[in-house]
Amino acid sequence: MPTVQLTPLSELPEGSVRAFALGGRRIALFHAQGALYALDDTCSHADASLSSGEFDPDELCVECPLHGSLFDLRTGRPRTLPAFEPVATYHTFVQDGMVFVEYID
Ligand code: FES
Repeated sequence: MPTVQLTPLSELPEGSVRAFALGGRRIALFHAQGALYALDDTCSHADASLSSGEFDPDELCVECPLHGSLFDLRTGRPRTLPAFEPVATYHTFVQDGMVFVEYID
């Protein structure tokens, strides 16, 4: 699986999120509770950017800014309607202070 370098970890402090364009899609990268979570940035319900939504690091979820579904950062699954399909999740790791994602377009 291809590995893509995203950002220095120092530029993604605990409790923050950033989106990255990779190939034909965008990936949202969250830093919460000492871990990194990478999800498709586009909501599974309609065209909204999850990285623009309200992110709750304590609950490990993000609220879609368009219709309010809560997505679990660990699984990409919606916890609430109207979204009912998950968004894709990606494995991340840190090496020498850089964040990498394993990604297939
Ligand atoms: S676009 Fe995300 S819940 Fe509708």
